[in-house]
Amino acid sequence: MSSIDYNERIPNNVNLGEDRSLKRALEHWQPGYLNWWQDMGPEGSHDFDVYLRTATSVDQQGWAQFGYVKMPDYRWGIFLNPAEQDRKIHFGDHKGEDVWQSIPGEYRANLRRIIVTQGDTEPASVEQQRHLGLTAPSRYDLRNLFQVNVEEGRHLWAMVYLLHKYFGRDGREEGEALLERRSGEEDNPRILQAFNEKTPDWLSFFMFTYFTDRDGKFQLCALAESSFDPLARTTRFMLTEEAHHMFVGESGISRIIQRTCEIMNELKTDDPAELRAAGVIDLPTLQRYINFHFSVTVDLFGADESSNAATFYSTGLKGRYREGKRTDDHVLKNDTYPVLHLINNKLIETQVPMLNALNEVLRDDYIKDTVLGVKRWNRIIEKAGISHQLKVPHKAFHRNIGALRDVNVSPDGDVLTDQQWGNHVSQWLPTDSDREYIASLMGRVVEVGKFANWIAPPAIGINRQPVNFEYVRFN
Ligand SMILES: [Fe+2]
Ligand SMILES: [Fe+2]
Repeated sequence: MSSIDYNERIPNNVNLGEDRSLKRALEHWQPGYLNWWQDMGPEGSHDFDVYLRTATSVDQQGWAQFGYVKMPDYRWGIFLNPAEQDRKIHFGDHKGEDVWQSIPGEYRANLRRIIVTQGDTEPASVEQQRHLGLTAPSRYDLRNLFQVNVEEGRHLWAMVYLLHKYFGRDGREEGEALLERRSGEEDNPRILQAFNEKTPDWLSFFMFTYFTDRDGKFQLCALAESSFDPLARTTRFMLTEEAHHMFVGESGISRIIQRTCEIMNELKTDDPAELRAAGVIDLPTLQRYINFHFSVTVDLFGADESSNAATFYSTGLKGRYREGKRTDDHVLKNDTYPVLHLINNKLIETQVPMLNALNEVLRDDYIKDTVLGVKRWNRIIEKAGISHQLKVPHKAFHRNIGALRDVNVSPDGDVLTDQQWGNHVSQWLPTDSDREYIASLMGRVVEVGKFANWIAPPAIGINRQPVNFEYVRFN
């Protein structure tokens, strides 16, 4: 069951050959997908040979095979983790019952919405990143970008498989619509706002893969608990791919920091102007990018109090992060959770029913995970002997959803007047001149083993290859 059939037009481990009408429907969707990749996939990349990993099995060991592939020929397919025998629903009102192999009619609309919303983010990020290949800081980084892109494409396949298999005609229509929406397009944008923002440069890309792909991890972890077993199994496998995306982000920022610290020590300065003159990214600018990407991403978890979140949990559609490791009753009807409210111009935690606060619960788990990587970044600065700390801003900073959306909050969590906010915002969020400076650094580095001036080489290559390996051949 875990091995993947590559003789099929659509590689899969779900016995697609035995379900003729499903196979036909997906083969009908496939050319539209490839057209979308041609139009919206990485610009100018279609003839490149890229050293990519492709899934060959969903086993822990040896799921990936590495080799040169032209991206339009990548074997996108359908890979589910093996079924767990006798798996039971382990949270919500149906706790203790068998998991579902098909969708109970009354949950169809909500599940469809969850799957479409998740599915929509996958092609969206490919669209957001499609010009980045033109300014890659090295072939190593270019390859990593492309790996992320093909895997986001595969994540779309994962969701479209569920739509086609379990939602009939509605599902097929949703599958088409997923190929029609476009990131940032006014008439037909992607569903979630963070996926309509631009990813204009590599600093934004690394921030995106660190912060926003991590939102993906937490959403997928919550869906991996689902009572709808096919959704749980497909998201489990997606998580193994997602881990690489976050690695790209964390290591990318690490290498930027390392390079900046080298120059700070060489020039014995922390003056942003001098560091910019030397062509590296000063730490205050990095901090502003962190503030931006963190705040835009925590919005993705939704309103802090949400009856939808309660419904999704109680009906067993979406669990909490690591639901199985928690020791409460997994029903949560009698539990409360602290949520921030603005009371007398102060941010005050008030207890609300936990079921309604599950977006906030997931957001807080996300924040804990995010902080760990920032600590690792700080260790690089510390090791260089520089006293400067990066940090994630207060979770109420620069919010655009929920109870905090109309409140001005500083990165330290102080409530501000409009005027105070206006006076300081250029210290806290990337300014036009920051973005112009970062844009000015972006230039394509193609020489094998060479890296742009603003980023250090990685310590090791991909799949034990040397750093100066020819990760992409341009032909
Ligand atoms: Fe994804
Ligand atoms: Fe991702």
